[in-house]
Amino acid sequence: MDFSPFSFLFFFLFLFLHHHISAANPHKTKLLKSQLLDQPTSHDGSSPTRYFEVTKPIKLPKTKPCSNHILHHDFAFAYGKSPVLANYTPPYHCPSREFSRIVLEWTATSKGRQFDRIVGVWLGGVELLRSCTAEPRPNGIVWTVEKDITRYSSLLIRNQTLAVYLGNVLDENHKGVYHVNITIHYYPAEKVFSYSGSKFKTLAPGYRSHADLIIPISRDLPLNDGLWFKIQNSSSAEHKLFKVPQNTYRAVLEVYVSFHEDDEFWYTNPPNVVIAAKNFSDMPGNGPFREVVISIDNEIVGAIWPFPVIYTGGVNPLLWRPITGIGSFSLPSYDIEVTPFLGNILDGSFHELRFSVTNATHVWFIDANLHVWLDRNSKKTQGKLLKHIGHPSQVSDFIDSSGTIWICARRSILASGWVKSSYGNITTNLIQEFSFNNSMVISDDENTQTVNQIIHSEDIVHANQPFSPRFAKETYRTFPLYLSTNKSVQGDGSSSYVTNVTLGFDERKFKSAGFGFSNNSLTNLQNGNGAMVVKDNLVVGGFGSTQQAYNYNQDNEACYSRNVASFNYTITGDEVRNSCF
Ligand SMILES: *[C@@H]1O[C@H](CO)[C@@H](O)[C@H](O)[C@H]1NC(C)=O
Ligand SMILES: *[C@@H]1O[C@H](CO)[C@@H](O)[C@H](O)[C@H]1NC(C)=O
Ligand SMILES: *[C@@H]1O[C@H](CO)[C@@H](O)[C@H](O)[C@H]1NC(C)=O
Ligand SMILES: *[C@@H]1O[C@H](CO)[C@@H](O)[C@H](O)[C@H]1NC(C)=O
Ligand SMILES: *[C@@H]1O[C@H](CO)[C@@H](O)[C@H](O)[C@H]1NC(C)=O
Ligand SMILES: *[C@@H]1O[C@H](CO)[C@@H](O)[C@H](O)[C@H]1NC(C)=O
Ligand SMILES: *[C@@H]1O[C@H](CO)[C@@H](O)[C@H](O)[C@H]1NC(C)=O
Ligand SMILES: *[C@@H]1O[C@H](CO)[C@@H](O)[C@H](O)[C@H]1NC(C)=O
Ligand SMILES: *[C@@H]1O[C@H](CO)[C@@H](O)[C@H](O)[C@H]1NC(C)=O
Ligand SMILES: *[C@@H]1O[C@H](CO)[C@@H](O)[C@H](O)[C@H]1NC(C)=O
Ligand SMILES: *[C@@H]1O[C@H](CO)[C@@H](O)[C@H](O)[C@H]1NC(C)=O
Repeated sequence: MDFSPFSFLFFFLFLFLHHHISAANPHKTKLLKSQLLDQPTSHDGSSPTRYFEVTKPIKLPKTKPCSNHILHHDFAFAYGKSPVLANYTPPYHCPSREFSRIVLEWTATSKGRQFDRIVGVWLGGVELLRSCTAEPRPNGIVWTVEKDITRYSSLLIRNQTLAVYLGNVLDENHKGVYHVNITIHYYPAEKVFSYSGSKFKTLAPGYRSHADLIIPISRDLPLNDGLWFKIQNSSSAEHKLFKVPQNTYRAVLEVYVSFHEDDEFWYTNPPNVVIAAKNFSDMPGNGPFREVVISIDNEIVGAIWPFPVIYTGGVNPLLWRPITGIGSFSLPSYDIEVTPFLGNILDGSFHELRFSVTNATHVWFIDANLHVWLDRNSKKTQGKLLKHIGHPSQVSDFIDSSGTIWICARRSILASGWVKSSYGNITTNLIQEFSFNNSMVISDDENTQTVNQIIHSEDIVHANQPFSPRFAKETYRTFPLYLSTNKSVQGDGSSSYVTNVTLGFDERKFKSAGFGFSNNSLTNLQNGNGAMVVKDNLVVGGFGSTQQAYNYNQDNEACYSRNVASFNYTITGDEVRNSCF
C-alpha cells in the first residue's frame, strides 16, 4: 500500500452499490467520478473541515426568529429504504403568525470515507430541497446549507409529514455516517409603516404573493427510495394525475431535476454513431443534448435545459474541497408558468402531468410542485388557452474536418391564455426560448476529451388586462461549461489525469408590476485545475485548485460579491464585498 497522505479509489457508480463496478476501466477518460480514500494523517485529531457553496446571504428582516428543530438523524444504512419520516408542526410557540422570511437550515457532519449521495427533503410530498452530500475526510467535515423557503409558506403553516431521503450505505471500506440536523427559522414580519405595496401594485394578489396551495407532483408515501420519479431512458416517461381547485387563477410549476450514473456527465456523452465508428467501448451514449419536457394531457407546457451540476465526487474530488461545485449543495429548481393552460384543467377533474427526458440514459430523478393561487371571492374561475406552439427541439450534429463533434439545438414554446376571476380577465403570455451548443473532441484512444458547452434559456411571462398595470417577469440564464480531461499512461503502471473545468451560472431577472420594477443579475463562475496520479486504482498524488467569482446585483441597491480560491483543502484567497460600488 502507499503511504501518501492522499489516496483515491475509483468508482463509477455511487447509487447502486450492488453493481459496484469499482475499479471501472481506468483506460478510459470517462473516469469522471472518483471517491477520496484519504489515509489517516497527522491531521486526524484536528477539527473538521468546513465545506461550503458560495452564495449570497439570505436577506433577513431584523426580527428575532422562532426556530423549529424538525429532524435529527444519523444516515447509515438508508439506501433503498423508506425515507426518514417525522411529524411537522408549524411554530405554534411563536408569538407571531405572520412571517416575512422562512429559512431551512441543513447541517451535517461526517467522518471517514463515503460516497457523494443525493438528498431530497419533502414536506407533505412537496420537495423543499434537492442536495448532494459532501465527501468526508478522516478528521471529519461539516457543512451547512441555508435555503429561503418562504415561497412554501402555505404549506409551512399546517401540520405535515416531513420525508428525508439520503441513500447512504456502510461497509468495510465506507464508514462515513451522515449526522444530519434540519431546523426551520421563521422570521416574523417587521412592523413598519407600509405604502401597501405601492412599488409592486399589480393586477391580482397572485402576482406579488406566495401561492395559496402547493400540489405535490411526486410519488406518494409509503415507499422505499426518494419521492422523485425515475426516468430511465428517452422512451420512459413518468406521470401523475392531479387536480386543481376550480377557483384557481394562477399556477406555476416548479421542477426539481438531478441526473445520475450513465447520465451524471450527460454533456460528455458522444453521439452513438461516433461510439460505433470509433469503438468507444466504455462511454455512455445518446450524445450530449438533454432536455426535460413537461406536458399536461399530452400538450407540452414547458421545457427545462438543465444546469450541469457537478457533484462533490465529480471530475476530480479535490476540486470541490472545501468550495463545492455551483448548485451541488442546493440544486436549482425551474419554474414554468402554466397559467395560460388553466382553461384546460379548471373542470374539477383529474389531469395528467408527464415528465420525459430527451435522449436520457439511466437515470434522472424528477418531481415537481404545482404552486396555485385561488380566487378568495368566487368558487369558480374560467379560462381558455388561446394559442400554443410547442414544436419539438431542432437538433443538428456534424463532425468537422478536424474531427470536432458539434451538436446544436434550439427550441421555443409559446402559449397564451386568459383566466377570468373576481380580479378581472387576465391574459397571460408565455415565451420560452432555448439554445444549446456543444463541441467535443475525443482522441481515438479515448485518452483525452474536451467539451465546450453553452446553454442559453429565456423565460418570459407577461400578464395583463385592459386599463390595468401589466405584470412582467423575465429570466435569462446562461450556463457555460468547459471540461478537459487528459490521461497519460506512465511506465510504472500508473496513469495520470489532468482535468480542467470551467462552470458558470449567469442569470438576469427582470420583474415589473405597475410602476415598479426590479432588475437582478448574477454572474457565478468557477475555474478548476486538477491532477491525479492513479496506481492500482489509488491516487498516489495530485492536487485541486479552484477559483470562484460570484457577483450579484439587485437594482444597484443590494449587492454581494465574493472572490475565493482554494488549493488542496486550503483557502488561498477570499474577498467579500457587500456594497454596490
Ligand atoms: C444536531 O442536533 C443535536 C441536538 O441538538 C446536537 O447534539 C448535534 O450536535 C447536532 N449535530 C449537528 C451536525 O449539528
Ligand atoms: C397538529 O399536530 C399537533 C401535534 O401533534 C396536534 O396537537 C394538533 O392538534 C394538530 N393540528 C391539526 C390541525 O391537526
Ligand atoms: C426504458 O425504460 C423502461 C422503464 O421505465 C423500460 O421498461 C424499457 O425497457 C426501457 N427501454 C429501453 C429501450 O431501454
Ligand atoms: C439522440 O441520440 C441519438 C444517438 O446519438 C442521436 O442520433 C439523436 O440525434 C439524438 N436526439 C436528440 C434530440 O438529441
Ligand atoms: C472494440 O473494442 C473492443 C474492446 O475494447 C475490442 O475487443 C474489439 O476488438 C474492438 N473492435 C474493433 C472493430 O476495433
Ligand atoms: C377574456 O379576455 C379575452 C381576451 O381579451 C377574451 O377573448 C375573452 O372572451 C374574455 N373572457 C371573458 C369571460 O370575458
Ligand atoms: C450556438 O451557435 C449558434 C450558431 O453559431 C449561435 O447562433 C447561437 O447563438 C449559439 N448559442 C449559444 C447559447 O451560444
Ligand atoms: C495530454 O498529455 C500528454 C502527455 O503528458 C501530452 O503530450 C498531451 O499534449 C496532452 N494533451 C492535452 C490536450 O493536454
Ligand atoms: C489544464 O490547464 C493547464 C493550465 O492552464 C494547462 O497547462 C493544461 O494543458 C490543461 N490541461 C488540460 C487537459 O486541459
Ligand atoms: C436591466 O438590466 C439590463 C442589463 O443590465 C439592462 O439592459 C436593462 O435596461 C435594465 N432594465 C431596466 C428597466 O433598468
Ligand atoms: C496537494 O495534495 C497532493 C495530494 O496529496 C500532493 O501530492 C501535493 O503535493 C499537494 N500540494 C501541495 C502544494 O501541498
